[in-house]
Amino acid sequence: MILFNEDQRYFLLEGDGFSYLLGLSPQGDPHHLHWGAPLAADPLMNLLVDWRTRSSETSPHVTMEHQRREFPDFGHNDLRAPAYHLEQTDGSRVSEFVYAGHEIVPGKPDFTPLPSSYAEEGDEAQTLKLLLFDRLKNLELELHYSLYPRRNILVRRNVLRNRGGGPLHILKLMSAGLDFPAGDYRLVRFPGGWANERRMQQGPLLQGLTRLESRRGISSHDMNPFAMVTRGEADERRGEVYGFALAYSGNWAMEAEVHRTGWLRFHAGLNDFDFKWRLEPGETFVTPECVMAYSGCGFGPLSRSYHRFARERVARGRWRDRARPTLINNWEATYFDFNQGDILRIAEAGKEAGVETVVLDDGWFGERDGDDRSLGDWFENAKKLPKGLKGLSGDIHALGLKFGLWIEPEMISPRSRLYEAHPDWCLHVPGRERKTSRSQLVLDMSRPEIRDHLLETIGKVLEEAQVDYVKWDMNRSLFEVGNEALPPGRQMELSHRYMLGVYDLMGRFNQRFPHILFEGCAGGGGRFDLGLLSYHPQIWTSDNSDGLDRLFIQYGTSFAYPPIAQGAHIAASPNHITKRGTPLKWRALVALSGNFGLEVDISKWSAGEREEVAGYVRLYKEIRPLVQFGDFHRLESPYDSDRTAWMFVDDRKEEALLFVFQVKPWKKGVKAKPVRLQGLDPAKAYKVQGVKTGFSGKKLMKEGWLPKPFRNPKKPYLCELYRLKSKV
Ligand code: GLA
Repeated sequence: MILFNEDQRYFLLEGDGFSYLLGLSPQGDPHHLHWGAPLAADPLMNLLVDWRTRSSETSPHVTMEHQRREFPDFGHNDLRAPAYHLEQTDGSRVSEFVYAGHEIVPGKPDFTPLPSSYAEEGDEAQTLKLLLFDRLKNLELELHYSLYPRRNILVRRNVLRNRGGGPLHILKLMSAGLDFPAGDYRLVRFPGGWANERRMQQGPLLQGLTRLESRRGISSHDMNPFAMVTRGEADERRGEVYGFALAYSGNWAMEAEVHRTGWLRFHAGLNDFDFKWRLEPGETFVTPECVMAYSGCGFGPLSRSYHRFARERVARGRWRDRARPTLINNWEATYFDFNQGDILRIAEAGKEAGVETVVLDDGWFGERDGDDRSLGDWFENAKKLPKGLKGLSGDIHALGLKFGLWIEPEMISPRSRLYEAHPDWCLHVPGRERKTSRSQLVLDMSRPEIRDHLLETIGKVLEEAQVDYVKWDMNRSLFEVGNEALPPGRQMELSHRYMLGVYDLMGRFNQRFPHILFEGCAGGGGRFDLGLLSYHPQIWTSDNSDGLDRLFIQYGTSFAYPPIAQGAHIAASPNHITKRGTPLKWRALVALSGNFGLEVDISKWSAGEREEVAGYVRLYKEIRPLVQFGDFHRLESPYDSDRTAWMFVDDRKEEALLFVFQVKPWKKGVKAKPVRLQGLDPAKAYKVQGVKTGFSGKKLMKEGWLPKPFRNPKKPYLCELYRLKSKV
């Protein structure tokens, strides 16, 4: 757990899978000494001796830049990127925080409405609060380290208090930082774009600064706020891997700076771009949290630590541990063009196929016949729904199905009643033209009266229509970020205040409607992060539902986020965005690997296809506990070959699911390789459903298994799901 050695002034944070060591320099500056494999007594001593020698050197050439620091300041002789940058009342930006005490407390503090992971069982987490103090300016900086020793997770965040007599401006305050020792580091990131989220990219970190960030007001499709640093090359089973996942859905940044010494400085937190926060005397500022994980055995164990943590200690509420329902959503089937009859027809076809929930997507409110109007007018469109939402919901409930509804609370269309009534409610810069994106403007979520209005109007709809499920969408980036409510000197707080407002509203909806299952969405996966997952336990992964692209998108998403969080639906072929055709079985197997649903009007499909779909829904219900709550293992990467494979294993290693996807026929003359399984019990024997011979877990993992259809696949898009059971 967390120890403080008083003589030698170091803190040792010991988990089952890693040790984290930091020491206090003679001046009281926290130095980073180790994060990685658990430290035995001797290596610990060696590290400490080495550090003491370095930190006591007095040569004039030895500056703070030659120390590996834990949370580096600005303005002294360390000229690498600082972790914080504060402008004081007198205009100075130089601060000097030194150790002033610490506390080691059980559990983990909560800072609502900022998303916070939490601890449940008495001793599962411990928090070190390391207090630093700037005497000249009377400022307190508390570095929080919450260690979950059995989960391989360390959560960091910082709390800054202004105890001085004048205001302070925060120009930058990261959530986590550390200096890695010299090494050959690589960065793994997850960039993309709309309908192309979280494509994995990796490459060496060279001298200089590499910056990952979002300036879009949302965590973004373009770059996910999760990255991994590897020491040397790593793969699924090998290599040292360090994960940084921000629990924040707005503007964020990560900095990786390789110094001339070869040391790597890494920071993650709020983006300092267009950010300046005024902190009055007596006020406190809390950063978002950064969830850090370590694996000495490649990406696989790191992902599984994140999956479990996201499922069990980030997600909250009634739905956390419950099986998530299968659903049918009308968006790709109808877009805005539907009426009550169409939705009921889709619901009935869904019911026949066995799904449990119908989700009515965009277009049910105001005069919403296209995307250029009515956002903000949260009352039903009587032309489309003559019996009202209540009537439709009643009919759907009468079929024995749950009723879900799409909303986009954070938006306002210039063509809406709400805009007529409150033209000043959107983010805007007074006097300037208001530019839209998807014909919409963004509501100023920093204003409490706007949030109250949304809770009241949308809350009324949810209550009256007895809604069981909500898809909370958000379909544009933030720009022209300004308002009339904040004084000029506080305008650069607005992007962050927007996010705090969004979290506050999400929290209030969760509290008022604890039975509702919320699905997050932002033009597909534009806000797929641990911050959003703490309010919405599942997210629509991408607007791209093409079977092949989805394989890559779900593969990339799985590095940090569990399959239960990834909405994955069978859609029509050819796909509505890519126009590519893929076989139904392929689309189904990709969807069966996540949080399963249908995004198509299957009432228009042939009886044979409907039957096939019903078979997949039945199958999903059988395998759901494994997919939603089992361990996920990536076996083969779609980036490395034309074949991809992944599997799910239950806690007791008694049941497993193996998915194999062969995109193109295997190249002639090349012998297909066996698929090497993972996560099984080497001592157990397994039976594969439909295959005569049994296998030992050891053999399946060491030598692998080449299922017959994949020995010489002749057709493209060959895929299979194999169900394994241990023999008793
Ligand atoms: C976004 C979502 C889609 C759909 C549309 C509706 O693009 O990602 O799933 O809900 O909005 O306008």
